[in-house]
Amino acid sequence: MPVLSCGGMRYQFKWQDVDPKDVPHEGRKNLEATIQRAFELGINHFETARGYGSSEMQLGWVLPNLPRQKIIVQTKVAPCADPENFVRTFNRSMSYLRLDHVDLLALHGINNRQFLRDSLKKNGCVAAARKLQKDGRIRFLGFSTHATTDIILDAIGSGEFDYVNLHWYFVNDLNWPAIQAAHARDMGVFIISPNDKGGKLYEPPRKLVELCRPLTPMQFNDLYCLARPEVHTLSCGAARPGDFDEHVRALDHYDRITETVAPIERRLRDEMSRALGQDWCARWFEGLPHYVDVPGQVNISEILRLWTYAKSLDLIAWGKMRYNLLGQADHWFPGENVAKLNGADLRATLARSPFAERIPAILREAHEMLFEAPAKRLSQS
Ligand SMILES: NC(=O)c1ccc[n+]([C@@H]2O[C@H](COP(=O)([O-])OP(=O)(O)OC[C@H]3O[C@@H](n4cnc5c(N)ncnc54)[C@H](OP(=O)(O)O)[C@@H]3O)[C@@H](O)[C@H]2O)c1
Repeated sequence: MPVLSCGGMRYQFKWQDVDPKDVPHEGRKNLEATIQRAFELGINHFETARGYGSSEMQLGWVLPNLPRQKIIVQTKVAPCADPENFVRTFNRSMSYLRLDHVDLLALHGINNRQFLRDSLKKNGCVAAARKLQKDGRIRFLGFSTHATTDIILDAIGSGEFDYVNLHWYFVNDLNWPAIQAAHARDMGVFIISPNDKGGKLYEPPRKLVELCRPLTPMQFNDLYCLARPEVHTLSCGAARPGDFDEHVRALDHYDRITETVAPIERRLRDEMSRALGQDWCARWFEGLPHYVDVPGQVNISEILRLWTYAKSLDLIAWGKMRYNLLGQADHWFPGENVAKLNGADLRATLARSPFAERIPAILREAHEMLFEAPAKRLSQS
């Protein structure tokens, strides 16, 4: 598995299935060039999903031109209550990709307990996928997830999966226990959206640029993740061939990755402690309630995470991109923003947090700093 993977969510023509004739010539050329460039660079893992609209179809026009045994192809199908429907959707993916098998099939978005139950139940989607494996149509089965760590740990603990696609990077350390659990089971670990959800690092604030020198913020984040042997690959959501270059240059430091990352990480954490206090930086997430247990289903944990990195490292644009998705993205980014608190008394809800006194004011500040008009998910754009 290459340490960088080619994500398939940014170069497709539409997020909906379209008539092949409607895909513009330049879009075809750009995707072909992006895949070719990836392959030349050794980035030979191509990851897409049935839910990414024309992505699979457009990949299916290019992948057959590459030596099959030299590429790793992943697609993802959403788990559902009816396993026959799951297999029908998988067959649609295969016909679009024009492949007789994929190397990796992920259950796309085990984001809550209902999806986990549907997946693991007797004769559920996992059983259906294992049948596909017996038939040689998939080589390995995994899952992708936006769930909270407790649910991810239960999915990993089921022993039913060979790999996991999840969010973990410098600005989100919460899922580290899940990565350790996956490692203990020798599972593959694929990092989702390190550059976009990982901080909008392609448009970094000046402060972050200065703190990450001599690397760029994207390069620091790449090496920060890859410095952990438990992490196998980072998805690079390339929209064009040139998007790989900055990441590949980061790998010039791969053989000295620890000593390259350490001083930059130190500078970032020192600045965060200077701005927010060492105690907050070390313990802000302790004793926080699950969003379903908060008045108005306000996602206090995610909001405090956004505030922590936005306030200390000037990641305001990223904070706004995420904050204004709350309440708009269903199980992909669950929970509501602070407005839904409606003045509720949080003392009981925050009783186990060492910062219960400070958090209400921090939530108000986070709302003032980050709230704008509700945002839409990419797939709804
Ligand atoms: N639940 C899931 O399973 C899930 C969720 C999210 C993502 N993913 C997977 O993870 C993959 C990566 O996520 P992502 O697409 O958000 O990737 P990403 O690499 O984190 O972000 C990609 C975006 O960053 C911008 N960008 C600009 N310069 C870049 C550069 N040099 N390198 C990379 N990005 C640059 C691009 O924006 P412009 O287009 O504006 O240039 C691009 O849209 C996706 O393709 C998808 O397959 C999975």
